Amino acid sequence: MFLSLALSAVAVSSAATLAVRADAGGTACTAIASTLGDAQVAVSPLDASYIDSRHDYWNARQSKYRPSCVVYPKSSQDVSVAIRAIRASGSRFAIKAGGHSPNNFFSSVDRGVLIDFKSMTGKSYDAATTLATYEPGSNWGQLYEFYQQYGRTVMGGRLSGVGTGLALGGGLSYLAPQYGMACDSFKDLEVVLPNGTITTASATSNPDLFFGLRGGGGNAFGIVTRYTVQSHLVGKFYAGTLIYVLDHAQKVLEATRDFIKYNTDPKASVLVTYETLTTPDLLLNLDEVIVVFIVYDGADPGAAFRNFTQIPRLIDTSMPNKTYKEVAEMPIPYTAEISRADNFFRIGAHRIEGNAYREVYDRYAAWADAHKGLYVYVSLNFYPVARSMTDASRARGGNVMQMPDGPWFWVNYILSTPPGMLPDLYDKVQASFRAMVEATPSATGLPLFLNEAAVDQRPLASFPTYRRLQQIKREYDADGFFTNKTGGWTFD
Ligand SMILES: Cc1cc2nc3c(=O)[nH]c(=O)nc-3n(C[C@H](O)[C@H](O)[C@H](O)COP(=O)(O)OP(=O)(O)OC[C@H]3O[C@@H](n4cnc5c(N)ncnc54)[C@H](O)[C@@H]3O)c2cc1C
Ligand SMILES: *[C@@H]1O[C@H](CO)[C@@H](O)[C@H](O)[C@H]1NC(C)=O
Ligand SMILES: *[C@@H]1O[C@H](CO)[C@@H](O)[C@H](O)[C@H]1NC(C)=O
Ligand SMILES: *[C@@H]1O[C@H](CO)[C@@H](O)[C@H](O)[C@H]1NC(C)=O
Ligand SMILES: *[C@@H]1O[C@H](CO)[C@@H](O)[C@H](O)[C@H]1NC(C)=O
Repeated sequence: MFLSLALSAVAVSSAATLAVRADAGGTACTAIASTLGDAQVAVSPLDASYIDSRHDYWNARQSKYRPSCVVYPKSSQDVSVAIRAIRASGSRFAIKAGGHSPNNFFSSVDRGVLIDFKSMTGKSYDAATTLATYEPGSNWGQLYEFYQQYGRTVMGGRLSGVGTGLALGGGLSYLAPQYGMACDSFKDLEVVLPNGTITTASATSNPDLFFGLRGGGGNAFGIVTRYTVQSHLVGKFYAGTLIYVLDHAQKVLEATRDFIKYNTDPKASVLVTYETLTTPDLLLNLDEVIVVFIVYDGADPGAAFRNFTQIPRLIDTSMPNKTYKEVAEMPIPYTAEISRADNFFRIGAHRIEGNAYREVYDRYAAWADAHKGLYVYVSLNFYPVARSMTDASRARGGNVMQMPDGPWFWVNYILSTPPGMLPDLYDKVQASFRAMVEATPSATGLPLFLNEAAVDQRPLASFPTYRRLQQIKREYDADGFFTNKTGGWTFD
């Protein structure tokens, strides 16, 4: 099987002409289908699964690309077969889990092979070791639901619809102040390397690779086909959303700062989001609202959220007895936050001392005011990084960010542009949004949150481990196959 692939590779690179190269994607697809069978390779753009795979991106702009085929591996062997065939053909490719990266070609491809993990949804729990093992094709809601029956959970994200690629970029959840980032709970990963070799990465097997995968991002060093992670005890949560009208913007901002700075209860988490629609919502006259998600691991949050609950709220849905899956499904009023649209995001990292928290809000609000009509929706999100979170990360060996002691915070900015915006205008609006974000420079010495960074922000370069990551990249992607043939974070 591999011999015939190798032979076709020789044919491609010697006799072959530019015409063959131009159809490298088709060559790869034919080779993959001849080994895996037609049922695992969707070639026709009219095929229901092809349509699904092409459509299902948080950033709808990724759906304009047209893969030569979509491959649905069922095992690491299938992934290895696909990678070897892609390499032999010279085709481009992309690896897709939940499809939530908004960056171009991170999980989408134009005339190349799209490897979609949809069919790899295995999951299991080992009560003797309390380790959880899952394949990359589930989303967090499905994983949280599965592990709930054991009274356990895995470390993932805050919203159920996001995919497992999240863990490779760190992975921030409401449980992070207790257990660290998602990648801090990795124990053993099965990986298909860029040369097609199937291997494992753990503290004792390929420790360099294991290090890089703990927050260095997906599609850089290899393809993870199985995650074995430390699970954590999980019970019921006190949780809900507090919704405020814009009049209280400053008060919520102060409460957010105080929470980041003073909260020491690791069971208490908040996600503070300022949301703006381009036109007033005629029904409620709410073109701007503030939504604070409060999540407490336990029945009684005590005074943990008092600085938020003291401010008059329009709506307060908080109540006890929510499962972790329910917590990940708490609704957001303006659903661009969670739904597919022409979405893009950027990140900032700031210290709590000083005025950065005000500056980011003021610049965001001024931009949103000045650009009415050029966006559908914008949002500013505050992510506290507690001291307990950075301690928990370090206690588990740390990750590629080597997170400095909290408290500090990340801010995420979401821009959702109108569908079908002309390219020139789209670029202009993006550039203007970018300038707004950069007007409050991130603090030196703090890592950018890779999962919610734009590719041009070069998050890896903000990590103190960057040189080591570059070395690992050179070792595992030795001839630059991933660098040349799929999207991803820059290492140079
Ligand atoms: C609505 C929304 C909510 C979010 N909430 C959170 C949150 O709470 N916490 C948080 O940390 N982040 C969050 N994020 C950011 C999220 O972590 C990133 O967008 C992440 O890239 C999503 O992973 P995915 O599997 O859904 O996306 P994909 O686009 O499929 O994958 C992301 C990247 O990882 C690569 N990849 C995926 N799986 C593998 C694999 N098995 N092996 C190798 N490479 C792989 C892909 O090629 C791609 O480059 C959120 C994003 C959105 C849009
Ligand atoms: C609420 O804010 C005040 C400062 O205004 C601070 O002293 C207090 O610790 C905060 N409470 C919590 C639970 O964070
Ligand atoms: C939550 O569950 C506990 C224990 O099961 C129960 O005593 C309590 O009444 C429940 N509270 C609510 C608000 O449902
Ligand atoms: C594949 O890459 C790994 C990591 O660089 C290397 O150790 C291994 O020898 C390579 N295998 C083959 C068959 O080239
Ligand atoms: C990737 O690109 C570099 C620079 O153009 C080239 O030297 C290298 O051979 C390429 N590798 C592959 C696998 O295409």
